[in-house]
Amino acid sequence: MNASQAVTATPITPHLGVELHGLDIHAGLSEEQMSQVRDALNRHAVVVLRDQHITPQEQVAFSKRLGPPLRVSLFTKHKPEGVDELTVVSNIHRDGVPIGVMDAGALWHTDGSYLAKPDMYTVLYALQVPQRDGKPLGDTAFASTEAAYDTLPAETKAKLEGLRAVNSLTHHMAVRRRSNLKAPPVTGKVDDVAPDVEHPVVRTHPITGRKCLFVTEGHTERIVGMPAAESEALLSSLYAHITRPEVVYRHKWRVGDVVIWDNCSTQHLAITDYGDIPRLMHRAGISGPAPF
Ligand code: SIN
Repeated sequence: MNASQAVTATPITPHLGVELHGLDIHAGLSEEQMSQVRDALNRHAVVVLRDQHITPQEQVAFSKRLGPPLRVSLFTKHKPEGVDELTVVSNIHRDGVPIGVMDAGALWHTDGSYLAKPDMYTVLYALQVPQRDGKPLGDTAFASTEAAYDTLPAETKAKLEGLRAVNSLTHHMAVRRRSNLKAPPVTGKVDDVAPDVEHPVVRTHPITGRKCLFVTEGHTERIVGMPAAESEALLSSLYAHITRPEVVYRHKWRVGDVVIWDNCSTQHLAITDYGDIPRLMHRAGISGPAPF
């Protein structure tokens, strides 16, 4: 593969996901190839590149071509080889100490939606993929928030118009505790690092202009100004609608996969079905605008 090789695309589901062939991040991508990646993200929201062999520095350099790295001092403990722009996601321990964030993403969410300016894209690179009986474990499931919005009944769309929701890392931690998930190692007081934020329930994609549902099981606490029971019922019905099994794509990881996703037009869920079988991923977050 080289920087002038033609890129071909295989769509994965009608709602989201595309596999791009003919790209080698290690060898370097031309500006034209990068615009094909960006275009694929805008069209398909989740982009899969197989058989990549990249260093942390190469992952960072590639990610920076999609936008500036997200600089939030949340998970500063788990940096591969001291590379600040990446976070290790893993269940592996060294000398009894976890080398990465454990149980990351084990509730439906979009990355950084508890921040005033959430991650626009995420780039996740698979270095170790758990297997049982020759089958990969630790899939990541994706759902399209655009398709979810588009398929809402007109009266629900009207009801959601102008609504805002509180997104909260504090709430996220509480949900994790209730679900017996390990807490991510936040550096500093959660309220200082990531105070609660309000975002529109329906946000507009900053590039495509399409509308996306922007509430998640993992990060959304409540709808602003709505009685608690009504807010809970509305949020639960939206979560169920977004993540209907028939529209979910489950990515089965292979070592060397780089998967890039758009955090406005998708939600994702890490399936933690692998226990102690080692899983190792490097994650880069790319910053984006405040949702509108
Ligand atoms: C994440 O949600 O940050 C990680 C997803 C995964 O590890 O599958």
